[in-house]
Amino acid sequence: MAAINEVTDLVTEDGIAVLTINSPPVNALSFPVRDGLFHGMSRAIEDASVQAVVIICAGRTFIAGADITEFGKAPRGASLFDVQQMIENAPKPVVAAIHGTALGGGLEVALTCHYRVAVPSAKCGLPEVNIGLLPGAGGTQRLPRIVGPERALEMVTSGEHVPAKQCLAAGLVDELTEEGKLREGAIAFAKKIVAEKRPLKKVRDLNEKVESARGKPEIFADFRKANAKRFRGFMAPDHNIRCIEAAVNLPFDEGMKAERALFQELVTGIQAKAQQYSFFAERTAAKIPDVPADTPTLPVKTLGVIGAGTMGGGIAMNFANIGIPVTIVETSQEALDRGLATIKRNYDNTAKKGKLTQAQVDERMGKLTGTLDFGALANVDMVIEAVFENMDLKKEIFAKLDATAKPGAILASNTSYLDVNEIAAATKRPESVIGTHFFSPANVMKLVEVVRGDKTSKEVIATVMALSKKIGKVAVLVGVCFGFVGNRMLAQRQREAQKLVLEGALPWDIDRVLYDFGMPMGPFAMSDLAGLDVGWNKATSKSSTLREILCEMDRRGQKTGAGYYDYDAQRNAKPSPVVEKVIADFASKQGINTRAISDEEIIERTIYPMINEGAKILEEGKAIRASDIDVIWINGYGWPVYRGGPMFYADTIGLPKVLDVLKQLQAKHGDDFKPSALLEKLVAEGKSFRDL
Ligand code: 3HC
Ligand code: NAI
Repeated sequence: MAAINEVTDLVTEDGIAVLTINSPPVNALSFPVRDGLFHGMSRAIEDASVQAVVIICAGRTFIAGADITEFGKAPRGASLFDVQQMIENAPKPVVAAIHGTALGGGLEVALTCHYRVAVPSAKCGLPEVNIGLLPGAGGTQRLPRIVGPERALEMVTSGEHVPAKQCLAAGLVDELTEEGKLREGAIAFAKKIVAEKRPLKKVRDLNEKVESARGKPEIFADFRKANAKRFRGFMAPDHNIRCIEAAVNLPFDEGMKAERALFQELVTGIQAKAQQYSFFAERTAAKIPDVPADTPTLPVKTLGVIGAGTMGGGIAMNFANIGIPVTIVETSQEALDRGLATIKRNYDNTAKKGKLTQAQVDERMGKLTGTLDFGALANVDMVIEAVFENMDLKKEIFAKLDATAKPGAILASNTSYLDVNEIAAATKRPESVIGTHFFSPANVMKLVEVVRGDKTSKEVIATVMALSKKIGKVAVLVGVCFGFVGNRMLAQRQREAQKLVLEGALPWDIDRVLYDFGMPMGPFAMSDLAGLDVGWNKATSKSSTLREILCEMDRRGQKTGAGYYDYDAQRNAKPSPVVEKVIADFASKQGINTRAISDEEIIERTIYPMINEGAKILEEGKAIRASDIDVIWINGYGWPVYRGGPMFYADTIGLPKVLDVLKQLQAKHGDDFKPSALLEKLVAEGKSFRDL
């Protein structure tokens, strides 16, 4: 075995050179990997005894892409382009041997090899779009030459990881080898192509599929139109599409130039920075300073859920999906039946879309057991309570759980706002109590705020963080405070949105501005969807807020056909002249003089106090880091990932400006805008949230 450098080595067996990359965790194309590939290839080419070369990786995966941490740094050593030229122009066959995931630059390296083999569990993809980029090493020019422009458009704009079997069918992979026997399989394949004297197949020369799409601009126009909503606000998808257009319309080398220019535009832009920040922020959130990675975790093989309502049902599905049996406890047969029927309907809908088989639906439903017997929770490893948001009820349930659950069982509450310490105090084992705040719909939304009580044990925290990842969620650890991180910040926005409406902005103006900012919907459309009557009581309603007045008029949201908006039979929203009049009357009764309100003011009034609240949350230690707050907003509330989250966004505006605007708003509108001490301190020190 000859080491090329610290991360690559080259060994020749029976005329086949095996160039192995070993650069954990994911064999990203860092400077030493590129250099190792370059020098390893050149040595194998020079060695007359070598008849073919196999490029393979050690560890969990084939090359997972460029090393994202190197972006923006001065280039060093062999460039990726140099490596690819060396491989593609090699005078002997080069075979990529793929396991794990060949992603981004990794797949682009494989596409310059003359042949590709993979184990059945491998996946290939060009996920650059998800970090605000496009495949910048020929991926957009080579991929459509194999899979055709239509499939390439889907792959580069979704970033999907395509399973090896599909890759084989599409011609992206030439042969599948036996699982676990990649090295042997790849060497055997290399020997076979040498023996058969197969040509040095260069993907760049395969022109048939791109040429046949030439002169058909409708392919791209239709694709853009069909996906306009999905791509809204993002720069990268359209840049990716333009690259595939270039592959179709230009000769290979010209297409490569177009790809390079478009890549440069993205890589230097703020969206790519925000999306890469978000990629690392999500992974950083899993790291808790005083709960190290080697903290022992508790086995969770069975789960109990209390309450089969909106949240309990969705939560149960997450666990049934990964094969964990769930016991669901309700107070009435009717509520239980309704809850289980909703779950079944959700699974059936997924099956109708072809994403689950009937057998899978049956298997998952088979994991769920409904009961009215609280005692059925005696042996489960973890219980998640999802009953009404009422402290007395939650305390009663936790006291009962304390008497019922086995020692060591994790006792979690899905409360959205309530004090987890107070809930824990209802038990004699507060170390086992934790908050797991899922977001609605709980089977879909990725976020879980994991709420750490004063006495929650480290084992319980480590277990719940790891378990959340296992069920496909992004978990962020937060401290106890009213509404935790997400809802506490949301309350700032909601308050200002309500105030702005009385000052002269209409609900649809505010919704439009926040939608255009990139949020999935504005606060008023959101209220209409959720129902204005959540928490409203007819008996005590006194027309004292706009919401009360609308509920009293039976304008309770989409479900009654009217709320802030009017709705037609298809639930399309239209601005409501009735509501406009209600607002005007209410404002005048309150003695408020309405005025014209600019879009800029709407942003400043609704978003800046959220940033300020985020700073207070950090100051109080309720979130570990600013990036955790951003992860919460992106995954729980649909904050546009291309703006990186509220704290990243604040850094991009510049904290001095944020502070200045808050001070002006404080002077005009009072202490709701009083800047946090942390914000003042950061500005005084010339720092940003990123520096914390
Ligand atoms: N560069 C640098 N570090 C990377 C990386 C990359 N491309 N991909 C993953 N990592 C790091 C992660 O930050 C993490 O570090 P940590 O342990 O210190 O937190 C570690 O590798 C493991 O990553 P995950 O926790 O995500 O591990 P998983 O096993 O869950 O997933 C993966 C592995 C599917 C490879 C996933 O990490 C992934 O999707 N990575 C990004 C792939 C990507 O976007 N590639 C394209 C890069 S851009 C490019 O290639 C440009 C080219 O076209 C020129
Ligand atoms: P829900 O009203 O839809 O469901 C609550 C269920 O609990 C009902 O089916 C009820 O019959 C059952 N229940 C009440 N008392 C019970 C008891 N003693 N034993 C067993 N079951 C009992 O409520 P939802 O929306 O699911 O909320 C549950 C919890 O999740 C609340 O704490 C809420 O704040 C929180 N939450 C709600 C979100 C939402 O968007 N709905 C989002 C995140 C958290």
